[in-house]
Amino acid sequence: MKVIVGTKEEVVRKAAQRYVELLNRKPEAVLGLATGSTPLDLYAELARLCAEGKLSFAKAKSFNLDEYIGLEGTHDQSYRYFMDHNLFEHIDIRPENTHVPSGFVKDDAEAELYDAEIAAAGGVDLQLLGIGNNGHIGFNEPLTPFTSLTHIVKLTESTREANKRFFNSIDEVPTHAVTMGIHTVMLAKSIILMAFGTGKAEIIKATVEGRPTISVPASLLQLHEDVEVYLDHDAASLLS
Ligand code: PGA
Repeated sequence: MKVIVGTKEEVVRKAAQRYVELLNRKPEAVLGLATGSTPLDLYAELARLCAEGKLSFAKAKSFNLDEYIGLEGTHDQSYRYFMDHNLFEHIDIRPENTHVPSGFVKDDAEAELYDAEIAAAGGVDLQLLGIGNNGHIGFNEPLTPFTSLTHIVKLTESTREANKRFFNSIDEVPTHAVTMGIHTVMLAKSIILMAFGTGKAEIIKATVEGRPTISVPASLLQLHEDVEVYLDHDAASLLS
């Protein structure tokens, strides 16, 4: 893992340059995208670069990591809605080239069709990840099998607690989600993981310096050959 530390602004600018390089070299690149508070500044930077003509997503495709089960794309807490409003409407990507897993898959066999779609598009060139306080990537909670493909998960109470700030009450937070699996993520050619703030410092230490273990899903990224971890000074504060 290559660790890049700076102010949030600095590392966001550096991460955005990865997109500029990739899309200049391969305009039809396949991007793996993430939701949450972490990617928001990066998405704003990508939109700015796109508006300035320094970056184009006109031929790119995107596949998001995850979606809540039971939320329509029009629900303001669905990840489809998040992506439309925080990125897609501000860049030149074609709406039909953007993919978010359906929150209405009925079982894992149907969920896995997402992996087939990704493969048919040529595989993910660059996967963006945030990290949960418990080390989850996408909604792959601790102990998710290393071999998992896109599947339905029951959310842990800690994840529902962490996300309840976006809903009126904990009861409204969905209990299940559909997420790319660990194997799906590991198939990406390159991966960028971002984390900001002291709240992420401990899990970042376990991710970067701990032994790879399915108890900390993000630590498994140590087994991938091209992972960059972008951290602000707070998130990096416990690294030796
Ligand atoms: P956050 O969430 O970006 O809102 O911190 C990250 C995650 O849970 O994957």
